[in-house]
Amino acid sequence: MNSKPKTFQVAFQSDLFEMKNVIGKTINFINENKSLNKNDISDLKLVLHELLANAVIHGNKKNKKKNVYMQLKLKDNFITTKIIDEGKGFDYVTHMAKYNEHHLKDSGRGIKLACALTDSVAFNSLGNEIKFLKKVKPNV
Ligand SMILES: Nc1ncnc2c1ncn2[C@@H]1O[C@H](COP(=O)(O)OP(=O)(O)O)[C@@H](O)[C@H]1O
Ligand SMILES: [Mg+2]
Repeated sequence: MNSKPKTFQVAFQSDLFEMKNVIGKTINFINENKSLNKNDISDLKLVLHELLANAVIHGNKKNKKKNVYMQLKLKDNFITTKIIDEGKGFDYVTHMAKYNEHHLKDSGRGIKLACALTDSVAFNSLGNEIKFLKKVKPNV
């Protein structure tokens, strides 16, 4: 039987301490609504950390007057998340085309990690909004 979707929505100012609080609250929300295995939880923590840090650092340039918005939906065995920043975006098409070169550098691991640990990642045309979908395994 299909379950009702549960939504968690949050906005926070561009600060890495705030971001860590938000990640904690997000994981609490997931745990309150679904019993997941430890691997999915640690994957989600990592992906949220990388993508929210990109929104704070690259998107909003740590400007505390700018917010990061996140919406996470839990439905059946799927988690979908949308993260929006108030920055200028970036040319993710060119970035993704150079995807295979990134392992040579220290930077450029965040998006790669998100792609590896989720089932789909998509940007809006500007590049200031990223969505991911992850299929999770309930801990039954
Ligand atoms: N929200 C964003 N706004 C603007 N640029 C971004 C955003 N997210 C990612 N980027 C760009 O994509 C690059 C790759 O991101 P990522 O894979 O997380 O590596 P890193 O953050 O270590 O550079 C960043 O260096 C940045 O240029
Ligand atoms: Mg990054």
